[in-house]
Amino acid sequence: AANQMWGGRFAEGPDAIMQAINASIGFDKRLYAQDIAGSRAHAAMLAAQGILTDSDAQVIREGLLTVLSEIKAGTFPFRVELEDIHLNVESRLTEIVGEAGKRLHTGRSRNDQVAVDFRLWVREQCDAAISGLTALMQAFLVQAEQGADWVMPGFTHLQTAQPVTWGHHMMAYVEMFARDRSRFQDARVRMNECPLGAAALAGTSFPIDRHMTAGALGFDRPTANSLDSVSDRDFALEFLSAASICAMHLSRFAEELVIWSSAQFRFVRLSDKWTTGSSIMPQKKNPDAAELLRAKLGRILGATVALFTIMKGLALTYSKDMQEDKEQVFDAADNLMLGLAAMTGMVSDMAANRESLAVAAASGFSTATDLADWLVRRLNLPFREAHHVTGALVAMAEQAGIDLPDLTLDQMRSVHPGITDEVFSVLGVENSVNSRTSYGGTAPVRVREQIARWKAALA
Ligand code: ARG
Repeated sequence: AANQMWGGRFAEGPDAIMQAINASIGFDKRLYAQDIAGSRAHAAMLAAQGILTDSDAQVIREGLLTVLSEIKAGTFPFRVELEDIHLNVESRLTEIVGEAGKRLHTGRSRNDQVAVDFRLWVREQCDAAISGLTALMQAFLVQAEQGADWVMPGFTHLQTAQPVTWGHHMMAYVEMFARDRSRFQDARVRMNECPLGAAALAGTSFPIDRHMTAGALGFDRPTANSLDSVSDRDFALEFLSAASICAMHLSRFAEELVIWSSAQFRFVRLSDKWTTGSSIMPQKKNPDAAELLRAKLGRILGATVALFTIMKGLALTYSKDMQEDKEQVFDAADNLMLGLAAMTGMVSDMAANRESLAVAAASGFSTATDLADWLVRRLNLPFREAHHVTGALVAMAEQAGIDLPDLTLDQMRSVHPGITDEVFSVLGVENSVNSRTSYGGTAPVRVREQIARWKAALA
């Protein structure tokens, strides 16, 4: 049978395989609430402009609410031959309200319709990401506050570098997730322009009021160029890009948790709620949630690359290629929100092992830089020379199988005769972290300032 929407031009219906490749209703039904909101705003505007009668607009707007409740109740008869959510809603509306339903599509096209629906959906996901990130930052803040002065090793190359504080390490993630949050906030501001009324691509000859529909749907203004309006998917790409960076951050902390929860590190104990056991090895407690979080970037970045690739060669304006945007964004958004929630739970429930952190902080010659700094300060050695003297002391200790503070004063003096026993006061880990008071440094006094700043900012 010929198509109900464009049957005038067509003698035959589509091949079954054509229907399978062409229809998007299987996934874009997720846009139903946005589609109905857009249509209700459009109908009200058409009436306000005298393009529809008030009574037709009233009937349409109420009929759309009936459609909405059918979809919510799960009784809506989705039909694949109607391709997508837009035609499904419109067709059902007409079944319910009759003639008036056929007037809804005046002065618009599915091209601007899908653009507005999808923007509304992505905008909502930005809001969800922003609140998910806020909760995650709060979870890190609680950890930071609890262990603001707990010492742990700081790493470069995953080799012991200098002692830092647990609070400082937790606050590093607060900074990272704060940048993610501001990326979603920025993207939201930029995407908040309404493409509805661009119609197919050129605008319309009907005297529509695009400012009215933009306002009704919570947009700051209508988009300014109708061609751009229907061909632009930057809002989705920006969302995916911000999501990718955020997922990369989630993945980095997930990796730290995998390492830290191992028997060799024992820096943290993950709660039973976020781990799994083994079917054969009774001792096992595997950090599965962390591992999955580490993997999520693969999907999210994959979606980002997919959409860039879909868009890159498209001449203006709309091409059907663009229908492939939605599944990518849906999957990325679902996995980002799940990831943020899982990480928030895992961070809230994990317990840092203060004892293991302290033991590790003191090992690996972690205060060698403090020793070199002392040689500069007290013996006025040039830093390069101090570095060399300290290196020799580290080699001596390593050979003896002991740590730096275990060397005797005589052993130290054999490397540099100027060393006094005051040097032992700088070899302690606590002293080391307390001394790093430069702005942004690891000293607890600085870390507590940052905690206070972020607590105020998130309150
Ligand atoms: N289902 C389509 C999409 O997702 C809606 C727009 C269709 N427009 C068109 N000219 N065929 O992009």
